[in-house]
Amino acid sequence: MNIDIISVAPELLDSPFAHSIMKRAKEKKLLQIQVHNLRNWAINKHGQIDDYQYGGGAGMVMMCEPLVNAIEALQQQKKFDEIIFMTPDGEPFTQQKANQLSLKENILIICGHYKGIDERIREHYVTLEISIGDYVLSGGELAAAVVVDAIGRIIPGVLNDETSALTDSFQDNLLAPPVYTRPANFKGWQVPDVLLQGDTKKIEDWRLEQSIIRTEKKRPNLLK
Ligand code: ADE
Repeated sequence: MNIDIISVAPELLDSPFAHSIMKRAKEKKLLQIQVHNLRNWAINKHGQIDDYQYGGGAGMVMMCEPLVNAIEALQQQKKFDEIIFMTPDGEPFTQQKANQLSLKENILIICGHYKGIDERIREHYVTLEISIGDYVLSGGELAAAVVVDAIGRIIPGVLNDETSALTDSFQDNLLAPPVYTRPANFKGWQVPDVLLQGDTKKIEDWRLEQSIIRTEKKRPNLLK
């Protein structure tokens, strides 16, 4: 899978993909991430990519021309299955959306900054708008990092059996059950007996029961 990202602050995306599971996905060539600096397509030698908004009001807007030139230059290289714009007014991001996106071949993500991007880009190029929550970040980069991480880790082959995504929270609309590691008794706090007895069927039943209890308690809306 290829993910291209257009950003005015590409440095923000250096670290999130350089470690752990994302690093492994890239090393296994299951995921290629390329971050493109929008200023490469600036309209003048001052690196301008934004301008005042029509109608007045505080905050700059990212201009059409650099974005169109960037998008179309990348479209020369790849046919994108989705062109995603990260925005707080987008569709709420969920595990289900991550699952769907992990099956795509080529994705382009546009990170907004300032007041956002000229509406005409959203109308004519963007195919999907994603929000990672009801709060406003200073730019789309951290949101894009969240989305790419969630997608990347479930691309088939990225995780091994031990880290399998199948037992993650949300995969079946349930939160994951509690987990424990050694020692079995820490300061008198005991690991539940069932986990120590080695009966895999009982353990499986216990985990499902705990998942349901936890979901009912913390996120009852998921059970509807
Ligand atoms: N850009 C700024 N805030 C955002 C959010 N909550 N989700 C996605 N992109 C954003």
